[in-house]
Amino acid sequence: MSAVAEQGALGLLRRYEEKTARSRELFERARRILPNGVTHVGRYLEPHPLYVARAAGSHKWDVDGNEYIDYFGGHGALLLGHCHPAVVEAVQAQAAIGAHYGASHELEVRWAEQICAMIPSAEKLRFTVTGTEATHLAIRVARAFTGRRKVLRFAGHFHGWHDHVSFPQGGGAGVVPGIVEDTIIVPPNDLAAVEQALGGGDVALVLIEPTGATFGQIPTGGDFLRHLRELTAARGALLLFDEVIAGFRCSRGGAQAFHGVTPDLTTLAKIIAGGYPGAALAGRADVMGMLDYRRVDGRIQAPVVAHQGTYNAGPVSAAAGLATLRIINETDAIERANAAAAAIRDGMNEVLRARRLAWCVYGQFSDFHIHMGGDVDPGQPEQIYQGRVPWQKLKGAVPAERIHQLRVGMLCEGVDIVGWPGGITSSVLSAGDIERTVRAFDATLEQIV
Ligand SMILES: Cc1ncc(COP(=O)(O)O)c(C=O)c1O
Repeated sequence: MSAVAEQGALGLLRRYEEKTARSRELFERARRILPNGVTHVGRYLEPHPLYVARAAGSHKWDVDGNEYIDYFGGHGALLLGHCHPAVVEAVQAQAAIGAHYGASHELEVRWAEQICAMIPSAEKLRFTVTGTEATHLAIRVARAFTGRRKVLRFAGHFHGWHDHVSFPQGGGAGVVPGIVEDTIIVPPNDLAAVEQALGGGDVALVLIEPTGATFGQIPTGGDFLRHLRELTAARGALLLFDEVIAGFRCSRGGAQAFHGVTPDLTTLAKIIAGGYPGAALAGRADVMGMLDYRRVDGRIQAPVVAHQGTYNAGPVSAAAGLATLRIINETDAIERANAAAAAIRDGMNEVLRARRLAWCVYGQFSDFHIHMGGDVDPGQPEQIYQGRVPWQKLKGAVPAERIHQLRVGMLCEGVDIVGWPGGITSSVLSAGDIERTVRAFDATLEQIV
């Protein structure tokens, strides 16, 4: 980093601190009682995170009254933006008549029917509250169905934070050795490694983000998914598409409908409940049958796989989810969010080319990923898709301090991006929002590079 850029970054830091004094105060209080002062590692930011007071459409406002264009999108849950009137109305109506019945209810049936009508692999589904629970349940169901122990996943792919999916090659703190032994991690897009791992005949489940890791930060193509489908079917392993982000975003039927590849199981969260807590494991009826009550010798027997959850299919989440999914199914919300992301990617790449900065901004759907690696020609995203950049450089390779500088710079300019770094777009971004975002990127680069 040049001396000029260092000065620029320091200037941004001062501007941010002046602009967000009340956020600073809250962070000081929070760090005394919350680890890191935050409740999700993705929200951690130095010198301090933003504390948000309210949101509407494509914007949110912090506790100091500053306005931001939002690219966190509720961690990807808000394809329709904040507080869509139909979703708010559905939530308010349901909240007034019951938050939790401790019983089955009509909305959960309608919600499940809507999901099964949209997602090709979803013959049956079981609601959970989070995506983490859904991938956890998938592993248990797959083991019960196949009688096998091992699970296979791809390096860099994110499936939540339970024990099987939250450690890198070799294991991680707090994860017992048995789980590490039963988990095979292979490089992304490496079909030969998958083939070799499946050769042992002991893999119950292969988990993949069908867009590639972190919604396409390490991209994966349709051909790879098709080969993976054939390979898993031939070797008797179940295939799970983790569509927690991709579902209802890549297309109405998720990444699986977009690519025309149907997995055995699918995990869904985020958009499924329109910004409220809700998720599901969906899939083949015979596999999901592991969760059914049975009759053996005329007697009721517990399901093969145990699964409970106080807040499964909560009525308020069901109301929000149903309202959201209907709008997505019946309007061009996905196409609008995709177009916004494409315009942002194009605008940012133009900035990079003009500045001759060897980064690029890429993505395929309602997303943009900022590659700060310096190993592409300025503003040439196709070089990522041509495989010119090794996957290890696409995720987690840039020092956190650099990413924090970029985020702080963008916040000073009124834009909130996520720490991949990049963002997720909604269907309600305006042309003005997009123009402002590209200008903010240019102004930030002026300071930090
Ligand atoms: C692909 C994927 N799987 C699983 C999860 C975990 O979902 P949750 O945060 O609801 O537990 C996430 C969350 O970001 C995700 O992106």
